[in-house]
Amino acid sequence: PQVCWLAPEQTAGKQRPYMYTQGQAVLNRSFFPGFDTPSVKCTYSATVKVPEGFTAVMSATSWEKQKDNTFIFKMSQPIPSYLIALAVGDIVSADVGPRSRVWAEPCLIEAAKKEYDGVIEEFLAVGEKLFGPYVWGRYDILFMPPSFPFGGMENPCLTFVTPCLLAGDRSLVDVIIHEISHSWFGNLVTNATWGEFWLNEGFTMYAQRRISTEVYGSAYTCLEAATGRALLRQHMDNTGEDHPLNKLRVVIEPGFSLFLGVNPDDTYNETPYEKGYCFVSYLAHLVGDQSKFDAFLQAYVNRFKFQSITADDALSFYLEYFPELKEKGVDSIPGFEFDRWLNTPGWPPYLPDLSPGQQLMKPADELAELWAADSLNVEAIEAVDVTAWRTYQLVYFLDQVLQKSPLPEGNVERLSKMYPKISKAQNAELRLRWCQIVLKNNLEAEYSKVKDFLHSQGKQKYTLPLYRAMWGGSEAARALAMETFSATAPQLHVNVQNYVKKILGLE
Ligand code: BES
Ligand code: ZN
Repeated sequence: PQVCWLAPEQTAGKQRPYMYTQGQAVLNRSFFPGFDTPSVKCTYSATVKVPEGFTAVMSATSWEKQKDNTFIFKMSQPIPSYLIALAVGDIVSADVGPRSRVWAEPCLIEAAKKEYDGVIEEFLAVGEKLFGPYVWGRYDILFMPPSFPFGGMENPCLTFVTPCLLAGDRSLVDVIIHEISHSWFGNLVTNATWGEFWLNEGFTMYAQRRISTEVYGSAYTCLEAATGRALLRQHMDNTGEDHPLNKLRVVIEPGFSLFLGVNPDDTYNETPYEKGYCFVSYLAHLVGDQSKFDAFLQAYVNRFKFQSITADDALSFYLEYFPELKEKGVDSIPGFEFDRWLNTPGWPPYLPDLSPGQQLMKPADELAELWAADSLNVEAIEAVDVTAWRTYQLVYFLDQVLQKSPLPEGNVERLSKMYPKISKAQNAELRLRWCQIVLKNNLEAEYSKVKDFLHSQGKQKYTLPLYRAMWGGSEAARALAMETFSATAPQLHVNVQNYVKKILGLE
């Protein structure tokens, strides 16, 4: 399942084949022999010979091209095996900062450069100010073919990202900030087992939002965090709060088929991200002073850099670093015990205060309220100019509409006509929400948008919710699911294919 071989039609340019690897969580064992566990770190080097006209890139600190289309790569820092990554294709690069360039197929390189020219360095600089030196040398970005299953993958020196980020307005840059944050949390300090994946992702979500707050302010960052909280709500509603994967420390068990045991890939859901974010925010809340907690994070990275650790290691260090908190017994406050955070499934016992985002959320809440009414107050609706809203404000608004759906008869059609910026959006985050609304409201007239969106990309977090919605919907929606899956299955990453098959009862 590890090495993805794409035919020319599966690329953006449709001229040449492409190959890429995706190691996380436990796929690299089918790429090369090695200790494929995040608890082991080592350096690596690789010699890769490619056909004429192709370029190879890897997650490496240095590379050189020799004669015969041979590329030599070296990673001089110890990393866990899941961070070793290779891509080969007809790709070119363009500089976007003093230590950053974008890589993409020739037909996308202009758009890629325009999206991130001059913005990456600021994120790196703020990250360094907050968390300490950036040890990886370069920070480059590779735009992947449309079937890449993730928003981003933090391969060191060279983040892989979905081409969906090419929104034209930098509106999805939070994914880049997220992957940059892994440069400290995940790539330097690594979860020792996939059962504690939240150590990578929860700390990274916290770091991402710290950088975002410094660069864009707390109103915008809290709004983005609120959309994350909505995803956690949806996830827990789907799976049931008590689901064994809805705790931070999960039990990974070997199994003998897709149906037995827990595969670490199954832990890729909102819990490690957003519940993890809440737990780290709770640790910050206990400290009570942002700059003291920032200093702790920097000390944590410094203490554990190039190591793999457990949550117990992290939490013991926290209590040692803040002896007055240890004295107070903050690890065992009833209802908020560290043990409960780690081992009890369910909604987080503490939620960070997102009220600085209210100035952006309130108008969206009110507008969603108006659209949910039985008889529409058109005057009040028309008084709101959504064309001035930022993407995440629209995303937040659409999540509210989705939550209130199905809306009274006819309202979604009106909404669609009134806001072409939403219903005809090219932005992937908006398209996902619009498709979810179309399905929940059974708006068959716009089913083609669901189909088009699923044909245009294969990101897991977009694909699975839409198949779940189709499968839980009408006969027509189920037929749409079957038709779309049989047409797109060969393009999807094999893991995503298998998850969709499970949803559709095909396995
Ligand atoms: N490391 C993850 C992607 C991943 C997780 C790959 C588990 C394989 C198994 C990456 O850093 C990530 O979290 N990406 C997110 C970005 C988002 C949270 C901003 C994604 O792809 O959605
Ligand atoms: Zn991540």
